[in-house]
Amino acid sequence: MSDIPHLERVAIDLGDRSYPILIGGQLLDAPSTWADLPKASAAFIVTNDTVGPLYAQRLAAALAGRYSQVHTVVLPDGESHKDWQTLNLIFDALLGQGADRKTVLFALGGGVVGDMTGFAAACYMRGVPFVQVPTTLLAQVDSSVGGKTAINHPIGKNMIGAFYQPHRVVCDLDTLQTLPQREMSAGLAEVIKYGPIADMAFLDWIDDHLDALMARDPQALAHAVKRSCEIKAWVVSQDEREGGIRAILNFGHTFGHAIEAGLGFGEWLHGEAVGCGMVMASHLSQRLGLVDEAFVSRFTALIDRAGLPTVGPKLGAEVYLHHMRVDKKAEAGEIKFVLIDKPGSAIVRGAPDGLVSQVIDDCCAA
Ligand code: NAD
Ligand code: GLY
Repeated sequence: MSDIPHLERVAIDLGDRSYPILIGGQLLDAPSTWADLPKASAAFIVTNDTVGPLYAQRLAAALAGRYSQVHTVVLPDGESHKDWQTLNLIFDALLGQGADRKTVLFALGGGVVGDMTGFAAACYMRGVPFVQVPTTLLAQVDSSVGGKTAINHPIGKNMIGAFYQPHRVVCDLDTLQTLPQREMSAGLAEVIKYGPIADMAFLDWIDDHLDALMARDPQALAHAVKRSCEIKAWVVSQDEREGGIRAILNFGHTFGHAIEAGLGFGEWLHGEAVGCGMVMASHLSQRLGLVDEAFVSRFTALIDRAGLPTVGPKLGAEVYLHHMRVDKKAEAGEIKFVLIDKPGSAIVRGAPDGLVSQVIDDCCAA
């Protein structure tokens, strides 16, 4: 029997902007993967100089059956290129090739390519259709789903962007086989995230299957991607534009974004910063009397086993606080944290600066 998982589907229910997430092996080449997408004369694959050589030709061949012209735009790889200058390369290519407002964009890559392609699709001629083809674990379980698109500004991460939903998300699990191990760990941070905020049974499953996930067992990956997407779909379907519950998906991100901005984007991977940020947020939850020490220890051990940092960089409490004040959840300068109020459930609330500083001192390198 083949170990390639069957095709799984998760639906994002957003009225006339609803779409499916397809999860399985060998999806890139299957014509049925691309059936029923909006009709157009041209498709543009947006990728980067790492992922493009691995998968762009295969995707272009598959799309050639549906679109008479298939162009490929290759961006420089890396979080440090998630900026205006790189975004403009997409617009240069679209305008240079005379792309019209029916042109469909395909984001082939990790979260950086996905966020930038989505933002370009939202802006080009005031909006063209796009499809997410995530090739990192992080992008398959989180960034490709839910319609957040953005670029960074030197002052803050993902500060310039739009909510703009894709027409489809295609998670070909086979693409994860070429991912560097450090990127696998970064993706696991976002998988683990769903446990304490929404589903402790899933956290137990991750604990039991972490070795299989690290070894990229196809069945384990299929379950992790599917359950993560189900939880994200459940949250996003209730609160597309983050007026309320969607903020819980940012567990660990307030501390994490401060680490990324404080060190300079790209120094730590986003998932690494989120993993460590979740440990810090768990400590803050404990200091506020919401969870006990046993929960924090167990959670920290899991983050460590996933190959993620559990000790923050020594930036100093003031630097952390400075960056956290420009976090998108902050209101009138008051920092909001996603905290675990009991295992499997999260809340968003402020915390006294003194307490936050103590957590930073306790959780960061001496
Ligand atoms: P990434 O896009 O930088 O990809 C990581 C690295 O893996 C890159 O070097 C990339 O070229 C390479 N790569 C990608 N697929 C590969 C493959 N199959 N084989 C070999 N190499 C491959 O990083 P990421 O972790 O995927 O995404 C992080 C970004 O996602 C951040 O910018 C973050 O802000 C964003 N994000 C967005 C959301 C959202 O809701 N929109 C959610 C979480 C994170
Ligand atoms: N990654 C957080 C969100 O999509 O809301």
